[in-house]
Amino acid sequence: MKVLVVGGGGREHAIAQALSRSGSVSEILCCPGNPGIAALARCVPGEQSPEAVAALAQAEQVGLVIVGPEAPLAAGVIDALEAVGIPAFGASQRAAQLEGDKAWSKAFMLRHGIPTAAHQSFTGLADAQAYAAAHPLPLVVKDAALRAGKGVTICADHQAAQAALEAIFAEPSFSEPGPQAAVVEAFMRGQEVTVLAFCDGQRAVMMPSSQDHKTIYANDLGPMTGGMGVICPFPVSSADLQRIQTEILDVTLRGMAAEGRPYRGVLYAGLMLTETGPKVVEFNARFGDPEAQAVLPLLESDLAQLALACVRGELAAESVKFRSEASAVIVLAAPGYPGEPHKGIPVTLPDVAPGEFIFQAGTALSGGRLVSSGGRVLAAQATAPSLNAALGRAYRLADRVSFEGAQLRRDIGARIGAVPELKASS
Ligand code: GLY
Repeated sequence: MKVLVVGGGGREHAIAQALSRSGSVSEILCCPGNPGIAALARCVPGEQSPEAVAALAQAEQVGLVIVGPEAPLAAGVIDALEAVGIPAFGASQRAAQLEGDKAWSKAFMLRHGIPTAAHQSFTGLADAQAYAAAHPLPLVVKDAALRAGKGVTICADHQAAQAALEAIFAEPSFSEPGPQAAVVEAFMRGQEVTVLAFCDGQRAVMMPSSQDHKTIYANDLGPMTGGMGVICPFPVSSADLQRIQTEILDVTLRGMAAEGRPYRGVLYAGLMLTETGPKVVEFNARFGDPEAQAVLPLLESDLAQLALACVRGELAAESVKFRSEASAVIVLAAPGYPGEPHKGIPVTLPDVAPGEFIFQAGTALSGGRLVSSGGRVLAAQATAPSLNAALGRAYRLADRVSFEGAQLRRDIGARIGAVPELKASS
């Protein structure tokens, strides 16, 4: 089967790498791809609009399309592919509203009793600022529209909350559905965990839990990024896993189906493990980036077959198999990120051993040389029997990349006391 992957970042590199291990995949295409993906797939330049992707998939007669990023999902790429009869793995436009409009998403959680932070959504600056001024700190201010992970501000004082709200209402909204809006919510304390689930419209089957590290600097300081490093699996008690399945994932799938938006694809549940149980921080309608780069290398099952089962509404829990090893991802970001990243910096990649991988995200070829072309440039990933060993391997791999000025966090895993093993043990 020929499979088309839509997107060109580190997540799509991880999807392409998982597909390259699929016995049922004869050829991988990627639109637009990147220089790293080009080693595994035929990269096809082109737009990610619904019309363009549907036309490409038809022209290439692909048997499956997997859509990586949120923007094409929110624009309706899956709907356009379904309309021309091509199996497409991802959330429909209406289902992707769970991510694309955070005010709608919060209202959905309230309607269905899904545990989340106390909050209020606003379509006007004055009301939002008055609410923020009257509520205890810290506060979380979220742009309701898609902002590539950078639309969230954790505010330690009211001045910061006022400024964050001003910035949201000063921007034109990117969100297709829903008006320009902000969500102001209570800060939840606990460990943050990502649970990705394969979904077929009725069933959600969890992948191993993981933890991303979202600020640019160590100790969770500095502005938010798309994600700077991941550990997988993140330890979650079986009681909490059970609650995540029944109180969050199952209720979400039932609620979406009941509202005429059956959820197929990957559901990203960003959760806080609070003293009173797991609560939703946010839903996303796709694989996490960089969570996918940590989770998918552990996938044993055939990704293309799982995706087709989801599309057909025939997902069986026992068909989703992961290796019981650990995986760690260290992101190398360009100087300047998450502001304006410096582009055109030469990057030289090291050789990798089995169980190690460099996922490319913001890279390009310039005069035959690999250079930085975006914010998060690369992710060094390693697999090992333990988390400490995986972190050690991933950091050693990251340190062998030649990339002047690269920013990387040295504390990935530290929140749970994981310590990278310094000497090579695997
Ligand atoms: N790593 C955060 C996200 O994918 O949204």
